[in-house]
Amino acid sequence: MTSTPSVRANDDALFLKALRREPTPRPPVWMMRQAGRYLPEYMAVREKASFLDLCRDEALGMEVTLQPIRRFDFDAAIIFSDILFPLIAMGADFRFGDGGPKLAERFDRPEDFERLRPVDAVEELPWIHRALKATREALDPSKALLGFAGAPFTLLAYVVEGETSRLYPRTKALLWHHPGLAEKLLAMLAEQVGDYLVAQLRAGADAVQFFDTWAGLLSPADYERWALPYAQRVAEKVLAAGGRCIYYLNDGAAILERQAAAGADAISVDWRLSLAEVRRRVPDELVLQGNLDPLVLLGPPDFVARRTAEMLEQMRGRPGHIANLGHGVIPQTPIDSVAAFVKTIQEWRG
Ligand code: CP3
Repeated sequence: MTSTPSVRANDDALFLKALRREPTPRPPVWMMRQAGRYLPEYMAVREKASFLDLCRDEALGMEVTLQPIRRFDFDAAIIFSDILFPLIAMGADFRFGDGGPKLAERFDRPEDFERLRPVDAVEELPWIHRALKATREALDPSKALLGFAGAPFTLLAYVVEGETSRLYPRTKALLWHHPGLAEKLLAMLAEQVGDYLVAQLRAGADAVQFFDTWAGLLSPADYERWALPYAQRVAEKVLAAGGRCIYYLNDGAAILERQAAAGADAISVDWRLSLAEVRRRVPDELVLQGNLDPLVLLGPPDFVARRTAEMLEQMRGRPGHIANLGHGVIPQTPIDSVAAFVKTIQEWRG
C-alpha cells in the first residue's frame, strides 16, 4: 500500500465545484494530452528520456505533468501516464515507439488471452501511485489532479489489435467469433480498471477519467452490448468508493444518450455535436466536458478565441461545464492558439 498524500485539492477548487455542478463564475479548463509534444519544454525533457522513463520516474513524471499548469494556469493537471497501463500490468507487452503503442507479442489465438491475468495495480504499477502522491503534494490546492485509464472496450480493442487501427477488424471478428471470450475479458477489464482508478484516487487523484476512444466504432446495439455495461461497472466502482469520474467517448454523437447512461458524474464529448444540442439531449444532472475541435487550434489566435467563446456561449446558464477540447491536443498545435483558448475561458463570465 502506498500512503495517501498530505494535501488534497481544496473543496472549492473550480474544477471540483464544476464537477459537483455548483455554479462557478467561469468554467474550469484543461486539455486532454496537455502534457505533450506541442510544448517545447516537454520536448526538452523527452530528448533525454523515453516516454516510459517519463512515466516511471516520479520526478520526471511530475515535471511534465506540471509543465502545462505553469505555462497556462490550467485548473486541472492530468498525471503523466497512458490509458494502456492496466493492460501492461495484466501481461500485455506494449512498447511505445514512434508509431504509437505496439504489442511485442500479439494475442493471435483465443488461448493466447490466458496470458492476461488479474493483478493488483498498486503492486504492479507502484510508480503511478508514487507520482500521484508527489504531484498532488506539489500542486497548488486550487488545482485538481486527475488520474485516468482506458475504458474496458477500448482496452480490449487495443489488446486484440496490438496497435492503433482505423477499423479494428480483429476486435470485431473476436466479438463475432468468440463472444464468450470477449465477455470474459471485458468483465475482467472492468474490474481491473475500476480498482486501478480507485487506487489512483487513494494515491492523490481528486477525480478520474476513463477513455473510450474506440467505442464510437460500434453500432448503438453493439455499444449497448460490448461497451456500456463495462463502462457502467467502472463508474459504479468509482462512485462506490466515494470518487468522481468523467467518461470520455470519441465519435459518440450517434450514441450520446447511451454514453450518458454510463453513470459517470460527467461525460466528455467531441465536437461532432454542438454543446447546445448535447445539453438538450442529456439530463441536466450530468456534467459536460468538452468540446472544441482540437484542430480549431491550427487557426489564428483570434479565430480560436471566437470559436472558444461560441462554445462557452452554448453552455451559458447551465452549471456543470468543464471546458476542454473534444479530443487530445495534437503535436503540431501552436502555443499561441492554446494561449488564446485558455485566456478566452479564464476571462469569461458566464
Ligand atoms: O497529458 C495528458 O493528457 C496525460 C497523458 C496521456 C497520454 N496518453 C500520454 C501519451 C493521456 C491522457 C493519454 C491517453 C491516451 N493514450 C489515449 C486516449 C485519448 C486519445 O488520444 O484518444 C489513447 C488512445 C492512448 C494510446 C496512445 N498512447 C497512443 C495512440 C499513443 C501514440 C500516439 C501519440 O500521441 O504519440 C500513445 C503514446 C503517448 N501517450 C504519448 C503521450 C504524451 C506520446 C509519447 C511521446 O512520444 O512523447
